[in-house]
Amino acid sequence: MKKSASSKYRPFPVVNLPDRQWPGRVLARPPTWCSVDLRDGNQALAVPMNVSQKLEMFEALVACGFKEIEVGFPAASNTEFAFMRRLIEDGRIPDDVTIQVLVQAREDLIERTFESLRGARSAIVHLYNSTSPAQRRVVFGLDKAGIVEVARRGTRWIRERARRMQGTRIRLEYSPESFSGTEVDFSLEICEAVLAEWAPEPGDPVIFNLPETVEVAMPNVYADQVEWFIRHLRRPQDVIVSVHTHNDRGTGVASTELAMLAGATRVEGTLFGNGERTGNLDVVTVALNLYMHGIDPGLELSDINGLRGVYERCTGMTVPPRHPYAGELVFTAFSGSHQDAIRKGLREREASAARGESPAWDVPYLAIDPGDIGREYSEVIRVNSQSGKGGVAYLLESEFGIELPKDLQREFGPIANDAVDRLGREVRAAELKGMFWKEYVERDAPWRLKGFDADSRDGVVRCRVQVERDGQPVVLEGQGNGPLAALVHALSDAGHPRLEILHYSEHALGSGEGATAIAYIQARFPDGRTRWGAGVDTHIELASVRAVFSALNRGA
Ligand code: KIV
Ligand code: ZN
Repeated sequence: MKKSASSKYRPFPVVNLPDRQWPGRVLARPPTWCSVDLRDGNQALAVPMNVSQKLEMFEALVACGFKEIEVGFPAASNTEFAFMRRLIEDGRIPDDVTIQVLVQAREDLIERTFESLRGARSAIVHLYNSTSPAQRRVVFGLDKAGIVEVARRGTRWIRERARRMQGTRIRLEYSPESFSGTEVDFSLEICEAVLAEWAPEPGDPVIFNLPETVEVAMPNVYADQVEWFIRHLRRPQDVIVSVHTHNDRGTGVASTELAMLAGATRVEGTLFGNGERTGNLDVVTVALNLYMHGIDPGLELSDINGLRGVYERCTGMTVPPRHPYAGELVFTAFSGSHQDAIRKGLREREASAARGESPAWDVPYLAIDPGDIGREYSEVIRVNSQSGKGGVAYLLESEFGIELPKDLQREFGPIANDAVDRLGREVRAAELKGMFWKEYVERDAPWRLKGFDADSRDGVVRCRVQVERDGQPVVLEGQGNGPLAALVHALSDAGHPRLEILHYSEHALGSGEGATAIAYIQARFPDGRTRWGAGVDTHIELASVRAVFSALNRGA
């Protein structure tokens, strides 16, 4: 990199719009969405989609609710042309969906484009030419008047053919390509020239699509450009203002959202942001951003995993794990404090639901309810070496109904974290349960319980315990005011450490005939050390006895 960046790069000039309105506005409704997956997205693929992949993608876009779909650049290749014909001839375009086709301002290409449209009910013909100073100078070698003439001629060729088209309603979209890098007054001038040439009937507006072909400035600058453009339109009633952002500076979504505040009512983009270089606008993200503010986006995204599957299959691209809403990890918390907060937030919602209330979504760290887009709550929390006791306890409870006492959570949390650390990866709930079983429930050395009998007479419980100690059979007998007290006495009477039971609790694991119980014991050893133990059995009394031996073994 250059030591002095300013010797090579310069800040982007701001738009003179001191009374800009967009910063004070709030979005209240969705835009008209136009998918450009099959054109802009497709042309950015190393291996473009074949006809059957395009068909699968088209159907997914229709199912998603797109009413305008740019299906290709039919004059550019035989595959694109064939795909258009297939859509029309097979009657695959629903009545409420308008297809859109891209074309440059060349008469032969426009002619071929119209051939591809024969038999369509309606279509948007999308004309573009590039307008920025760099494009005018480097690519076209034309002055502003020459560039305007290109757009005007292209519009005329389309208009002539549109009027001759029988049975097909043709609408015009015009893009001053590289709008974001073009002087705003020149963008306006060229669009006004196109409008004059097209001469739309009242109620049949032209679409002016203002591409951020390359992101060259911050989103506020693009919003200013869009607001300036709209405010200076001579015939705004004859125009739909559309935006088409890319993502070179990583702010394509922000640019679109601010441009909507600035007055754009139509948005072009692709699923998950596929497109040239850093991609096109990700329409899924903008739609779900609207949704999380309580605005129905008008797109159906309840099965985002399914949509992602179609996208990955058709494009060969992958959605990164941290991608908003759709990434594998976006509803996963690794940090213990996050897990704890999510757990409390979800519990609060459960409690509200039980009271018949439905408060607005306000769960810490979860922007939306993952269930709304077909993601699962079980994805929310996984455990790695950074997780706290809260996450560990949550998983054991939510997946297996194991309700560890608070103090036991504190003891087991670091044990689990160490084990996960050694594995060097995150673990799933079943693995965590395995760790708990190994550490507590299956601890049978040096003591292994073989049998336990207790009877109670006159308020005194007598017990007989058959155990193995280091593999040798031992029988212990003792008495007390309950089975556990009798067991503690039996151990100390035989010369083994006298335990003090500090905590005892139990609960059922599951229900029905095969249901088991789990008991938790916290025992203090004569030297002051405390150990937790846990036991599982179909008989609750045996579960508690096992828990004592678990604590004893852990302290041995
Ligand atoms: O990014 C762009 O400028 C385009 C135009 C053709 C609309 O894709
Ligand atoms: Zn583009």
